[in-house]
Formats: sequence, C-alpha cells, structure tokens
Amino acid sequence: METLGRVLVVVPTYNERDNLPAIVERLRTSVPDAHVLVADDNSPDGTGEVADGLAADDDHVHVLHRPGKQGLGAAYIAGFRWGLEEGYDVLVEMDADGSHQPEELPKLLEALAGGADLAIGSRYVQGGKVVNWPQRRELLSKGANIYTRVMLGLPVRDATAGFRAYRAATLEKVGLSGVESQGYCFQVDLTLRTSRHGLRVVEVPITFVERTVGKSKMSGKVMSEALWRIGMWGVTGLPKRLKGPSRD
Ligand code: GDD
Ligand code: MN
Repeated sequence: METLGRVLVVVPTYNERDNLPAIVERLRTSVPDAHVLVADDNSPDGTGEVADGLAADDDHVHVLHRPGKQGLGAAYIAGFRWGLEEGYDVLVEMDADGSHQPEELPKLLEALAGGADLAIGSRYVQGGKVVNWPQRRELLSKGANIYTRVMLGLPVRDATAGFRAYRAATLEKVGLSGVESQGYCFQVDLTLRTSRHGLRVVEVPITFVERTVGKSKMSGKVMSEALWRIGMWGVTGLPKRLKGPSRD
C-alpha cells in the first residue's frame, strides 16, 4: 500500500445551510488529515456564509464562492481546478446532504492506495445499498445505469455515483478542459473518460442514505441533459466499440 499524500474533499452546495456543518464535522472526525473545499453556487439560503464561518474556525476548511447556480458538474470542475493548483494528490467528491457517509471515505482511499486510479463508492455492487429512497427515485437511478451500460458499455455498475476519489494524476491525464457536462451526467462523463484512458476504476460498496433535511436538486433539466449527452457519447463511441475488444 502506498501513501496517498494530501487529500481534498470537494463538497458542492446549493441551499445546504442546515446540512453543511454536520457533514463537515463528520468528515473532519473520520479523516482528520483531509482538507475540505465547499464549492457554493451563491446559495440563496446563505450556505456560503455558513461555509465561511466553518473556514474561519478550521484551517482545513476552504470555500469557493461561485456566482450562481451552474450545475454540479461545473462546481466540481472549478473545485478540482482549485485543488490541482494547490497541489493536492487526491480529489474526492462528496454530497453535502449526508447521503454519502464520511465514515466510508477511508474505504475509498484504501482502494486508491491499493492501486486504483478512480475509486467509486458504489450502490450497485455486492454489499452496496440505498436507504430510504422512494421507489421512483431508485427506478430512475437504476434505469440511468442500465441506459449508460447499453449506450457506453462501461464495466461499471454505478456510473452515476457521486461519492468517489480520484488521484490528481488521473484528472491530469484525463483533462478537464473538454468537459461540458453541467449536471449529474458529469459523473458518467468522467467515468467514461477515465475508463477510455485505460485507467483503473474500482467500485467499493457503500450505503447511500437519502437526505432527511432539505431538497434534492435533481430536475427535468438534469435528466434531459443526461439522456442526450450519454446518447451522443454512445453514438460517437460506437465505431470504436464495434472494432475494439469488448471491455465487459
Ligand atoms: N454548487 C452546486 N451547484 N452544488 C449543487 C448543484 C449546483 O448546481 N446541484 C446540486 N448540488 C449539490 C447539492 O447541494 C448536494 O450537496 C449535492 O450536490 C448532491 O445534490 P442532490 O440534489 O442532493 O443530489 P441527489 O441526492 O438527487 O443525487 C445523488 O445521486 C445522483 C444519482 O445517483 C448525487 O449523489 C448525484 O451526484 C448522483 O449523480
Ligand atoms: Mn442528495
């Protein structure tokens, strides 16, 4: 097992003021050496100020203020750029609403230390679970993963998962400048790019717990962007898939 170096956990926020303090505290307890970057899209509920308060009390907490709601993908790209410039070795994605349990982050980091280039916290491998999701949301997520598998042939069970750890080198190899995904299809986008670069993607089982406070930002716009972008990647990647060896 290698040592990983400096870890930055990027937490995108839009209207999460009642969730943020608890999740940051759990994270600081679970992995005390890790730094946190809150990437806030000028939340109307004042999440940005709450984040500033946390940063003022703790030198491991940082805040990136963005001008307005530009999507989960855009927030992560800005957060990753910040982290790469600051010289972090590992960049983690984690939601602010408690769905991703900071107590499970060490498992993701262990997978990286064991040789993975991207470790995905997966709901759909053996041992993975979802707690408290309404049936329609579970169907939507499973449907999205089936659509992704059919379109892209990715050897990943949970390509839309949002709890994951990248080596900085992975993001540097893959490159962020061509990434246009704004919403949640950003997750599939980066999984596809990582896999197409021949890098090692490992899924680690996690338990996803539906939020108890605040609201999901999933929307029709997020869904339709995922549908057309994934469809387009499928069609443009098809000639290669037919020619090359199957990856499944
Ligand atoms: N900065 C910023 N800008 N943050 C955002 C935006 C945005 O436009 N949209 C959502 N977020 C933040 C939320 O505040 C939260 O911290 C996190 O991103 C996840 O958003 P949720 O709205 O809670 O997502 P979800 O629970 O519906 O979806 C989860 O499952 C998806 C499908 O599996 C997430 O884990 C997604 O990443 C995942 O793709
Ligand atoms: Mn959520």
